[in-house]
Amino acid sequence: ALIDKGNHRHFMQKEIYEQPIVVAQTLRSYLQRLEDRVTLPVPNFDLDTISRVTIVACGTSFYAGMVAKYWFEQFARVPVDIDVASEFRYRAPVMEDGGLMIVISQSGETADTLAALRHAKEEGQKIAAVVNVPTSTMAREADLLLPTHAGPEIGVASTKAFTCQLAVLAALAANLARAKGKLSPAEEKAVVKHLAEAPAALNAALAYDESIEAMAGTIAGARDVLYLGRGTDYPLALEGALKLKEISYIHAEGYAAGEMKHGPIALIDENVPVIVIAPSGPLFEKTVSNMQEVQARGGKVVLISDYDGIQAAGDGCLATITMPKVHPLIAPLVYAVPVQLLAYHVAVAKGTDVDQPRNLAKSVTVE
Ligand code: G6P
Repeated sequence: ALIDKGNHRHFMQKEIYEQPIVVAQTLRSYLQRLEDRVTLPVPNFDLDTISRVTIVACGTSFYAGMVAKYWFEQFARVPVDIDVASEFRYRAPVMEDGGLMIVISQSGETADTLAALRHAKEEGQKIAAVVNVPTSTMAREADLLLPTHAGPEIGVASTKAFTCQLAVLAALAANLARAKGKLSPAEEKAVVKHLAEAPAALNAALAYDESIEAMAGTIAGARDVLYLGRGTDYPLALEGALKLKEISYIHAEGYAAGEMKHGPIALIDENVPVIVIAPSGPLFEKTVSNMQEVQARGGKVVLISDYDGIQAAGDGCLATITMPKVHPLIAPLVYAVPVQLLAYHVAVAKGTDVDQPRNLAKSVTVE
């Protein structure tokens, strides 16, 4: 069947809206809800010998990998190395026995990522591939194929593939943690519960679309935009900045909130909107204090948080975007929605070509 936009103006918008369904579809192959188990579609892959993980990807897929690094280290206590694919091979990476290389790619064809996969294979690494196209080269060459079930993604800027990658990587982190004796049955049950809540939470996040659209005009006039986040919200800040520059051509930078004082703070004035991604939780206070440093310098803040976070720190912001209150495990999936929608509406306000931004390709098959 021909893929069409349905009731949507752009493929990107359609794909943002598909996320509750495709994440649910993806999770179906990784969660055994009746048994409270998180499993992999390849049953006999031996994870207990894995002593180290290397993650390699490009673009948005790389940011999914950055989130996963936090998870693998936190849950499985396995050291994780991560790099963009175009750098990986050229820095003489050390790959020891027992290493698992994880490539993440929507297309499964990105030239740099494929080259990294082949290089790691030659070095004796086991290869896991999180890919959305099951017939792709990476899918064929991997030892462990971990499919995302996002369906065809047409918009050049990746959206639904990203949240599905996060769902798969969370499931892989739980499997690795169990294999390492770091996940009790009760903890595994909790992981199943939290991941199973993701589709409804994504739906709830989408309900704020109109309020995001309403404030897009204030961002559309900016020349530079800064995104800040801590912990797993740091990769989300990077992804938000990438989305905005890809489709609206506004210069945007993502920064670790605590690192802002080592550079970007020099840029802050009333003309640079600062998007702060800060769900309430253990890192909230720290991020808010970075946000206040911005406000003290006249910076205009857009705070993305849940109701409690906005109650606690929303005063004095240019705008706030309210998200449902979710468990930290699924926060990266849920907070992807407002950063995608913000980029989308800013691009629409500017009149750029959302689905086919200039100079970009959906799949980059040259190095
Ligand atoms: C291109 C696309 C991005 C994508 C990146 C990696 O730059 O425009 O949206 O994130 O490639 O693609 P992959 O297919 O490997 O995930």
